[in-house]
Amino acid sequence: MDGKEILSLDMRGVSKQFPGTLAVDSVDFQVRPGEVHALLGENGAGKSTLMKMIAGSFSDYTGDIYIMGEKVELNSPAAAKAKGVGMVYQELSLAMPLTIAENVLAGRIPTKGKIFADKKAMKDQTIECLKRVGLGHLDPFACIKEISQQEAQLVEIAKTLGNNPSILVMDEPTSSLSREEVKLLFGIIDNLKKQGLAIIYISHHLPELFEVADRITIMRDGKKIGTYNIDEVTTKSLVEMMVGRPVDDTAVEVQNKVFGEEKLRVEHLTRHGFFHDISFNVRANEVLGIGGLSGAGRSELARGIVGADAINSGKIYIKGKETKIRSMSEALANGIAYLTENRKTQGLALRISIGENILSPLLKKHTKNGIYSAKRGESDVLAVMKELQVYPPDPTVTVGNLSGGNQQKVLLGKWVATKPQVLILDEPTRGVDVGAKMVIHDTIRRLAGEGNAVIVISSDLPELVALSDRVKIMKEGKFIGELIKGDLSEESVLLAANGEGDKLSGNIYAS
Ligand SMILES: Nc1ncnc2c1ncn2[C@@H]1O[C@H](COP(=O)(O)OP(=O)(O)OP(=O)(O)O)[C@@H](O)[C@H]1O
Ligand SMILES: [Mg+2]
Repeated sequence: MDGKEILSLDMRGVSKQFPGTLAVDSVDFQVRPGEVHALLGENGAGKSTLMKMIAGSFSDYTGDIYIMGEKVELNSPAAAKAKGVGMVYQELSLAMPLTIAENVLAGRIPTKGKIFADKKAMKDQTIECLKRVGLGHLDPFACIKEISQQEAQLVEIAKTLGNNPSILVMDEPTSSLSREEVKLLFGIIDNLKKQGLAIIYISHHLPELFEVADRITIMRDGKKIGTYNIDEVTTKSLVEMMVGRPVDDTAVEVQNKVFGEEKLRVEHLTRHGFFHDISFNVRANEVLGIGGLSGAGRSELARGIVGADAINSGKIYIKGKETKIRSMSEALANGIAYLTENRKTQGLALRISIGENILSPLLKKHTKNGIYSAKRGESDVLAVMKELQVYPPDPTVTVGNLSGGNQQKVLLGKWVATKPQVLILDEPTRGVDVGAKMVIHDTIRRLAGEGNAVIVISSDLPELVALSDRVKIMKEGKFIGELIKGDLSEESVLLAANGEGDKLSGNIYAS
């Protein structure tokens, strides 16, 4: 690097203290114009906090921040925006009841005669922004809640780009994107790089980092461990720096499982426009995967089974007995729990404690003579927190103050604590680090091993393949085939999900 180079971002000795936690500890962090700089570290390492510092979320950070060589005080979101910082948050920040246009143009909605929104201009400007993320076809006046989680994530990026930032921070932008959408995003990032933007990219998905990053900084316990060119590091060296000790890559042992009684059977289940004529069963000790591209209808199917959305026809049998499920609480009463893919808006109450969140589905169980006692549930809470290694290990901490990965662990813990016989998991490890992912996988295997049935929906193909005994492939609302352990691989699932299962030898792909 020559001494004259002007850095897009130069943070020197920055720190941020929360009560009881020094989340960022004297960090130096530099980003050049036109580079993608990845930020890596375990859940709770301080990545989001460092980025929130640049986004102006804190008025009490210490240390110096320079943007394009100029010393700046980023004490408010408005100040950060004015200095060219654009932030795509880990947790979506879109307003659900508002339209795409109102979200994308927030704070700069074009008006006619000063009072009325200029609909035509709104439409044109929104479409212009949406085109930059490949979503030019969306209706600008559709509500955010009407579009998919994946589309919402890209809309969020479009919204940020609308302010023409010179530094773009993306905190786990791909955690809910399918492979095709990730490719699209990388195309967008490539373009932004060429325009000289500095891009900071947080992800737990290591293969992705090798694809997209030019340099990488590793954090641990609030401190910077180092910054490297991407070709100087390997997956193994990155993991070792993250966890702070040598790791060996021991293979997971696969044992032959014996399945028990049928726990859940679904016959001809249909919700018009979402899924059609779905039939399958899942047995005790079995992990059934559901694979498919985003938009195939997997989450909608899960929601239909647990009564979150009404179904039009079809039957559900629990342990052989036909059962009507009209709501998630009825599902729970019948031993079926569903972990949503959408933890912030549907899964967790961010303002209450870890303990209260975990106990929320168990209110009935812990209420006697009309009096609720959290005491009765305390041991359940501590047990799941310990198993899933929730940090900090204190049930009274407010969930909104946890790192993203730890929020995901609490969400899973909440459903595990209900001791379900059938657990349906939608993207169970979204946003968790490699270590936590293994912990969650162990929990899923333990649950199945104890005679329960687990259904896993995951866009993370290595995860789907590692966990499932059998994978149903879904496309355009229908089951189009099945792959059984032994024939399961990332390639076979991907081919099948794209409707090319016939290219696999006929006997391994039953449809
Ligand atoms: N508002 C807050 N109040 C108190 N503590 C907080 C707050 N926000 C974060 N922390 C703590 O600061 C530490 C760093 O959290 P941060 O969210 O920066 O981690 P992260 O590296 O982004 O993790 P993840 O990969 O799980 O998203 C954690 O110990 C977390 O519990
Ligand atoms: Mg984070």
